This record gives sequence, structure tokens and C-alpha cells, in this order.
Amino acid sequence: IMKKALIFGVTGQDGAYLADALLKKDYVVHGVKRRQSSLSSATRLDPIFKDPIQRKTNFTLHYGDLTDALSISSLVSKIKPDEIYNLAAQSHVAVSFVIPAYTAQVDALGTSNILEAIRMNGLENKAKFYQASTSELYGKVLEVPQSETTPFNPQSPYSIAKMYAFYMTKLYREAYGMFATNGILFNHESPLRGENFVTRKITLGLSKIKLGHEKKLSLGNIDAKRDWGHAKDYVNAMWKILQTDEPRDYVIATGEQYSVRDFVEKAALLIDLKIHWEGEGINEVGIDQDGRTIIDIREEYYRPAEVETLLGDPSLAKKDLNWQSETTFDSLVEEMMISDLALLKEGQMPNPFK
Ligand code: NAP
Ligand code: GDD
Repeated sequence: IMKKALIFGVTGQDGAYLADALLKKDYVVHGVKRRQSSLSSATRLDPIFKDPIQRKTNFTLHYGDLTDALSISSLVSKIKPDEIYNLAAQSHVAVSFVIPAYTAQVDALGTSNILEAIRMNGLENKAKFYQASTSELYGKVLEVPQSETTPFNPQSPYSIAKMYAFYMTKLYREAYGMFATNGILFNHESPLRGENFVTRKITLGLSKIKLGHEKKLSLGNIDAKRDWGHAKDYVNAMWKILQTDEPRDYVIATGEQYSVRDFVEKAALLIDLKIHWEGEGINEVGIDQDGRTIIDIREEYYRPAEVETLLGDPSLAKKDLNWQSETTFDSLVEEMMISDLALLKEGQMPNPFK
């Protein structure tokens, strides 16, 4: 019998990689998508739907929204999934300062809606639940590197909403004996990353400069440091977390850290732009070898509170799950640059799932 998975947030970066990975493992995959005004709201899933020999027959999309508890419950009761992945969220940290209450509706209460749907439909012994928790919970870090025992210190409406979801997931595990787990994932990127997250903004922006479509890329705090992995590796960790005998929470990270500035320099070098920096703070600029100012810093991209540094300790995942990050920082940056250059030049990116 084929296993059934239900993915909330299937149209997002991780949702697309996870759907592809589960279909390759012969799962029947159900994904939840929000109604939108444009036809092309699920473009990340195009490679799955367009593949002629693909597993698309095992893949169904349903309309739904995390803020609509009854719609969630009705999906859960109809599908009766073996595994439920909650990847749906208003996932942009800076945007969460602009729409804090909406972010809480989706990221906090939305998670509670799924957990209750599992419980009220009597599936607490059948459906395993994965919650997309985040390294943002560590916020202004209280320990370096961050592990499963590091205290949380969230710094944004986003991470505070995710903290509620983290503890609700843990509560349902402890109170009702559900297989409910948190993956505390550090930043992970890919060619499918949303265009306003910093890595994709950089690879798209530099590609446009290279092709002469734009002159400059504007950024915020380029001295922020992150532990960046590849989404493809991280969705595999999500799956592994649900295949264990005992549910528990895991940190998923590379154990290496780079600054936004490092990312910019590395990406630029791949297209023969050698950047040097002049000035400080919001007056800093990045200048290429021909003396052109191609990077500037703008106040609007700073956050009211910043998470300066994140570095994960993935040793428990290595020990229990035999999981480790496979993609190096260099090859992540390279894959994203190649993909965005192709997208801008040819109107299409290489198939990210190959
Ligand atoms: P993403 O690209 O922003 O995708 C978010 C998904 O959630 C999209 O499918 C989005 O649908 C959906 N969604 C948003 N609001 C919804 C609602 N009200 N009802 C139903 N679906 C809704 O995020 P991602 O990078 O793939 O990340 C996946 C999850 O992991 C998120 O929960 C994120 O917070 C968390 N996380 C991400 C990282 C990371 O570095 N990527 C690290 C740690 C944790 P639309 O396509 O319609 O917008
Ligand atoms: N987005 C963005 N845009 N970030 C910028 C910019 C800019 O122009 N300039 C500098 N940054 C800095 C941010 O201030 C932050 O310190 C860092 O780059 C990374 O920003 P994002 O790529 O937006 O990611 P994030 O770390 O805030 O959040 C992501 O990772 C979390 C896990 O740690 C998101 O995917 C979250 O959903 C996820 O939970």
C-alpha cells in the first residue's frame, strides 16, 4: 500500500522539493494551495506537472487555507494521510513586522488548526506531523552554535508566531501521544527560493546587472551571518524526522556560517565581477573592477530588530537520522547563479529537481 502525504505550503520552495522527493519515493501526495487571482500560482510545481513520465498521477492539489479551520479539518478527514507536513507560513521575517497579526493567524493559529484537525478526526495514532520550525527561534542567540537545547530568544513577529507553533507541536506530542515533531531548520535556499529573500535577491540582482537589465542592487545589513544549506537536502531531513521510532525535535543545519557580504562576493565572482567595498553603514557601496557602483545599502532593507548571527549544530540529526547537509556553500551559490542567468536569458530555469 502506498503511503499518503499531505503537504501544507506545497507551492512554496520547500513544498515543491518535498513533493518531488516524496513522489520519487512512491508516495501519493496531496498538496494544499491557496486560491489566487493569477493562473500561474503553482509555477514551482511545473516540472512535476510537465514531466511526461512523471508521478503526476499520484499528485493532487486541493484548495485550502491555514486560517480556515473547517477547510483544514475536512481535508484531513477526507485524505486520512499517513504523514502531514506543515510548511505553510507567512515566512518572510521583514514582512512580519508589517503584518504581525496576519503572520500570527497563519504561522501560529494555522498550526493549531492542523493539530486539532488531526486530533478531532481521531487520527492521532495514524498521522505523523512535521512542523516547519526555524532557527529564527534562537533570534538574538544565547549560545553558539545553536542546538536542540539552546534557549529561544525570538526577535520578530514571525519567530514569535513560530514559537507558539513549536510549543503546540510539542504539547500535542506530550499530551496526546501524537507523533508530532519540529524540524528546527536553519536557512536553506535553492533556485526556487522566493525572490525577496536575500540569497535569491542577490543571484537575480547580479544576473540582471551582468545582462545589462539593471545597474544596481540595493541591500540592507550585509554583515548578518547565516548557516545556509540547500532546500533539496533539507526536505530529505524532514522526511527522515518522520521515519524514526520516537518523535523528537531536530536541528537541521550545515554547521558552517557565512555573511551576506560573503554571498554577494562569491556570486559576483562567478560572473567575473570583482567587488571591493567603500564607506560604512548605509553609506557603504560595492564597486566592481571597472569602477561601477553595483551595490548600495538602503535603510528600508534593515529590520526593526535584527538577527545578526545564526550557526547550527546538526550533530543530533547526524547521530539519530544519519542526515547531513550534502551541498557546499560554493555549489549552492553556483547553482543559483546558473539558474537565474538561464531564467533571464532564456526565460526558463534548468529543472531544479534533476
Ligand atoms: P515559502 O516559499 O514562503 O512557502 C510558504 C508556503 O506557505 C507557500 O506555499 C504559501 O502559499 C503557503 N502559505 C502561506 N500562507 C498560507 C495560508 N494562509 N494558507 C495556506 N498556505 C499558505 O517558504 P519556504 O522557504 O518554502 O519555507 C517552508 C516553511 O519552512 C515555512 O513555514 C517557513 O517559515 C519555514 N522555514 C523556512 C526556512 C528557509 O530557510 N527556507 C527555514 C526555517 C523554516 P503561496 O505560494 O500561495 O504564497
Ligand atoms: N530579505 C533581505 N533583503 N534580507 C537582507 C537584505 C535584503 O535586501 N539585506 C540584508 N539582508 C539580511 C537580513 O537582514 C537577514 O539578516 C539576512 O540577510 C537573511 O535574510 P532573509 O534571506 O530574508 O532570511 P531570514 O534569515 O530573515 O529568514 C529566513 O530564514 C529563516 C530561518 O533562519 C526565512 O526563510 C525564514 O522563513 C526562516 O525561518
